[in-house]
Amino acid sequence: MTKKPTSTGPGGARVLRTKVKKKRGLKDSSRRWLERHLNDPYVQRSKADGFRSRAAYKLIEIDDKHHLLKPGMRVIDLGAAPGGWCQVAATRIKSTEEDPRVVGIDYLEMDAVPGSAFLQMDFLDDAAPAKLVETLGGEPDIVLSDMAAPTTGHRRTDHIRTMHLCEVAADFAISVLKPGGHFLAKTFQGGTESGLLDLLKRNFRSVHHVKPPASRDESVELYLLAKDFKGRTGT
Ligand SMILES: C[S@@+](CC[C@H](N)C(=O)[O-])C[C@H]1O[C@@H](n2cnc3c(N)ncnc32)[C@H](O)[C@@H]1O
Repeated sequence: MTKKPTSTGPGGARVLRTKVKKKRGLKDSSRRWLERHLNDPYVQRSKADGFRSRAAYKLIEIDDKHHLLKPGMRVIDLGAAPGGWCQVAATRIKSTEEDPRVVGIDYLEMDAVPGSAFLQMDFLDDAAPAKLVETLGGEPDIVLSDMAAPTTGHRRTDHIRTMHLCEVAADFAISVLKPGGHFLAKTFQGGTESGLLDLLKRNFRSVHHVKPPASRDESVELYLLAKDFKGRTGT
């Protein structure tokens, strides 16, 4: 790897751009991914700010604009690893070690995040919904989902799998949220089925798509934000 000053950053400072040398065994697409990752300002910022993922900034930017996370709330974070969203949520709701009010779930391992509990299990497991609510110790004010299915290389398959996760997350949110609660979930441009949108519109007072600046322009990723849950009576 070599670092070359290739451009000027904020304040006119020279920015060192990391180039990954062409090597045998590293496919061109992997080399380009690594180069983009190493030069991504959000990746560099997340290291400096102590966040575990660049994804943390997506939640920060959405919350700064839509004011979802308030002290004292209870939060469920679906697809939590490596823990960036748990870090942001626990800090913003002022969750403590003594009374953790954030519960994350992922089938991958995750190091503990102060102020949050973690379940290492598949959210699609039948036992997961009850276990999440039991661990949280009450109904959530917010259900977050940044779940993404592992990529297969076949774009359409990846979309379908991630959309399925989004739909299951929406059903879960409707079955557990407190009235007035919110649901924020990863989806894809053009991917949200009208059935899912109708379901959310029937159950929440406002529903729209959001694309935070930290979500790369070239990515088809979007977030569905459903605010102000109407409650379960009449659903
Ligand atoms: C984009 S990452 C989440 C990043 C996280 N928001 C952060 O800030 O660190 C998506 C996560 O969803 C998880 N995931 C995908 N399908 C899942 C499932 N069925 N159950 C639990 N976790 C799942 C993946 O393991 C992955 O860790």
